[in-house]
Amino acid sequence: MVPLLTISICLEPSMSRTSFAAIILAAGRGTRMKSAIPKVMHQIAGRPMIAHLLEALRPLSPDATIVVIGPQMDTVARVVAPAESVVQDPPLGTGDAVRAAMRALDGRLAPHGPIENVLVLYGDTPLLRGKTLARLLAEQERAPAAVLLAGMRPVDPGPYGRLVSAPDGAVLRIVEAADATDEESAIGLCWGGLMLIQARHSRELIEALDPRNAKREFYLTGVAEIATDEGLRCAAIDLPSEELLGINTRAELAEAEALMQRRLRREAMEGGVTLVAPETVFLSADTQLGRDVVIEPNVTFGPGVTVGDRALICSFSYLEGAAVGVSARIGPFARLRPGAILEEEVHIGNFVEVKASRVGARAKANHLSYIGDSEIGARTNIGAGTITCNYDGFNKSQTIIGEGAFIGSNTALVAPVKVGDGAIIAAGSVITRDVPPDALSLARGQQVDKPGRARDLRARLRRKN
Ligand code: UD1
Ligand code: MG
Repeated sequence: MVPLLTISICLEPSMSRTSFAAIILAAGRGTRMKSAIPKVMHQIAGRPMIAHLLEALRPLSPDATIVVIGPQMDTVARVVAPAESVVQDPPLGTGDAVRAAMRALDGRLAPHGPIENVLVLYGDTPLLRGKTLARLLAEQERAPAAVLLAGMRPVDPGPYGRLVSAPDGAVLRIVEAADATDEESAIGLCWGGLMLIQARHSRELIEALDPRNAKREFYLTGVAEIATDEGLRCAAIDLPSEELLGINTRAELAEAEALMQRRLRREAMEGGVTLVAPETVFLSADTQLGRDVVIEPNVTFGPGVTVGDRALICSFSYLEGAAVGVSARIGPFARLRPGAILEEEVHIGNFVEVKASRVGARAKANHLSYIGDSEIGARTNIGAGTITCNYDGFNKSQTIIGEGAFIGSNTALVAPVKVGDGAIIAAGSVITRDVPPDALSLARGQQVDKPGRARDLRARLRRKN
């Protein structure tokens, strides 16, 4: 079983690399999202955008990682830890954010320190892959530049900064869409929000930025023109625009989600999983699926799910924080909540919810049940409509059921309660005391039959009407 995303970021072991510090910018207000939460905390495939970037960086082992956050962004600092975060207050633009991060790197950057390059990433580009970052670093080794930019050619260059280039391909400057002339707006080569700066030039380039633009901010993009003016090399390489999609609006968030889902589905299928209708299955970045798992249409995987080999997940099931055993069968219409651990060949059927419970091998709960805070032994059968009554309004209590037990339909197990191995519970029972092993337990009202009384009753009612 392999986490889907690691497949996409495996790097060639032979790849040499230059030392670098990664700076991730996340302090912007994200006004266009119209949200109470920081932009980089919005999720793609069940994980905050910024966590995707850290994941992409991981295999490259940066020599330092600094995340620039805004004031009151403690949630971001917590998500990125142990990466260091620095606060930019107030946020005066992307160039100003890099300046804040560089203060934290003081003494570590060349020429005074050992780190040769500064890699700037924008926290709102969550689709970047590790191998694409590695390509940028490799290009810097091949043909060093004071500033190396990730260029891209999106279908709609719309809001992106345009790269104004000399005939020999050198980049002269980046023009923001808001500041561009018609001629500049027509340039298809855009900047993807990813930049490598030689550390020994980084201080002079960043310090030279000024806020002369439409927004009166210190734009990081200004370093291209400053480098050119100083006679330093500023270059760009073309990287896939699909990976450099910048998320500024909810529509772009949905677009990124769709692209990420397509990527995860493809990786799942390449790993030996059957998706009957891939476009209807939603995965999380950390979903782990075994070989020959079959997933029917319309299944959603929240974070933290592992599925063993040969399991079948039927339509309309929703899984999160659950471990599904080898050859298990889930759904249709099953809900697995955090802490559901199902061993091999378990059957969880329609309208069954399992939470914080371990279900032993070959046990079955095929219809209409709630199993919460429970342990269910191997081969036990849970009848339709069985409910573990785990909550009294204040406390959660455990239900422990042994192996090979049979719980009749519509049983209410009032926790805390234990049912021994091999016990049989009669249908419709309300179990409030422990049941010994191999006992037959009946806990329901006695049935009373009155011969002929139905006919008499009908006759009486007919006369009345
Ligand atoms: C930016 C670029 C644009 C590029 C695009 C790529 C600038 C001025 N423009 O535009 O050329 O094509 O990204 O996606 O850089 N941030 C801070 N502090 C600030 C302002 C922003 O940390 O003071 C962070 C934001 O949180 C965000 C990133 O920097 O993660 C980029 O800012 P954003 O406002 O999204 O820039 P764009 O308008 O997308
Ligand atoms: Mg952006």
